[in-house]
Amino acid sequence: TKKTTWSDRFESALHPAIAIFNASIGFDIELIEYDLTGSVAHAKMLAKTGIISEEEAQQLEQGLEKIRQEYRQGEFNPGVDAEDVHFAVERRLTEILGDVGKKLHTGRSRNDQVGTDIRLYLKAEINEIRTYLREFQSVLLNLAENNIETLIPGYTHLQRAQPLSLAHHLMAYVQMAQRDWERLGDVLKRTNISPLGCGALAGTTFPIDRHYSAELLGFESIYENSLDGVSDRDFAIEFLCAASLIMVHLSRLSEEMILWASEEFNFISLKDSCATGSSIMPQKKNPDVPELVRGKTGRVFGHLQALLVIMKGLPLAYNKDLQEDKEGIFDAVKTVKGCLEAMTILLSEGIIFNQTRLNSAVAEDFSNATDVADYLATKGVPFREAYNLVGKVVKTSLAQGKLLKDLTIEEWQQIHPAFATDIYEAISPKTVVSARNSYGGTGFEQVKIAIANAKSELKQ
Ligand code: ARG
Repeated sequence: TKKTTWSDRFESALHPAIAIFNASIGFDIELIEYDLTGSVAHAKMLAKTGIISEEEAQQLEQGLEKIRQEYRQGEFNPGVDAEDVHFAVERRLTEILGDVGKKLHTGRSRNDQVGTDIRLYLKAEINEIRTYLREFQSVLLNLAENNIETLIPGYTHLQRAQPLSLAHHLMAYVQMAQRDWERLGDVLKRTNISPLGCGALAGTTFPIDRHYSAELLGFESIYENSLDGVSDRDFAIEFLCAASLIMVHLSRLSEEMILWASEEFNFISLKDSCATGSSIMPQKKNPDVPELVRGKTGRVFGHLQALLVIMKGLPLAYNKDLQEDKEGIFDAVKTVKGCLEAMTILLSEGIIFNQTRLNSAVAEDFSNATDVADYLATKGVPFREAYNLVGKVVKTSLAQGKLLKDLTIEEWQQIHPAFATDIYEAISPKTVVSARNSYGGTGFEQVKIAIANAKSELKQ
């Protein structure tokens, strides 16, 4: 059996199955670059405060950078006996440097170390996800710009409600993604706090300079309380919450795309580059991308729930339960990035909006009924009265297999003398949509304003 970092205090070796059970190296190797960077900053701080010599700090830095190179070249592959990434690095450092390597852990614990690593990791990944969100938004914006006057049925209760500009529908998702982008910016604020130097739980006897190491690592501030610093995972929960909301939005869009691609809707066609076939039904073309995004949403929600439950019963300060935070966070990051990328590709080159079908869909229903009521209301009929009149017209038209546009002017005037021949124009799909010109509405002028506003927001 190999010697572990702490084995001098123990009589016998760890049971091999327990060693495997206990180890996190299988997944926390993902943190290695951040662990190395954190250690370099710690070594520099130790030298600045005179706890170790400048020369020792330089040796430590060189050793740590050597490990970075080894890792990048695929030559650093610690096994289960290393326990975790922190021990793996320290052990290798001591192999490289001898006794100087053993000085690195002065005034530090794995508890503040792992907290530092995970925060550095999340800071970088949050910025990446924000970039993915920006690309997703700009593809949606582009589609919106090209489809201001393309009409699409709008639904409530999944029943035809009022027609919309397709651009307006797409811009709703641009807004959701904007909130996601801003929310991640908020999470970043509370991720950007350094726990380094909190020690195991109580701080340290060495005259360390926590502000200095925090500054080297690009942290905005440091934890005020060492117990809180090593045991806080609020920022990770907030991240998983923000990630979950991104997935909510992607999943709703996915659901719509799956419906739209069905023969019943037929609003979009899938291009071969983003669809798959069936093993038995030769005619099939399946929307796997949005289905997978919708399906993967569950795992991100699961990671949020898992971390909330991990945290709720933990006494202060560090407990090994906290080792369970990582796999969920890593998987959530990977899932969100993968889904954003796939949806961005799908939107930019994987679908075609079936314009003819969309434009005719909005002309074949009663989604202009509100506009007939509005027409009468504009001519002085109280809205509720107008609404009731139109309700009757819809009932009789349905019974006769007619649409509102099929009524003759005589029929309209029998319903109410206020109707004139301009009713036909007033209830045509284009007019109906463009007339909803209230702020934030689907009217073409409003949609153009929304697109212009979003464009300037995206530049930030
Ligand atoms: N692998 C551990 C984790 O992920 C590192 C911290 C271990 N600290 C301890 N006191 N055992 O949480």
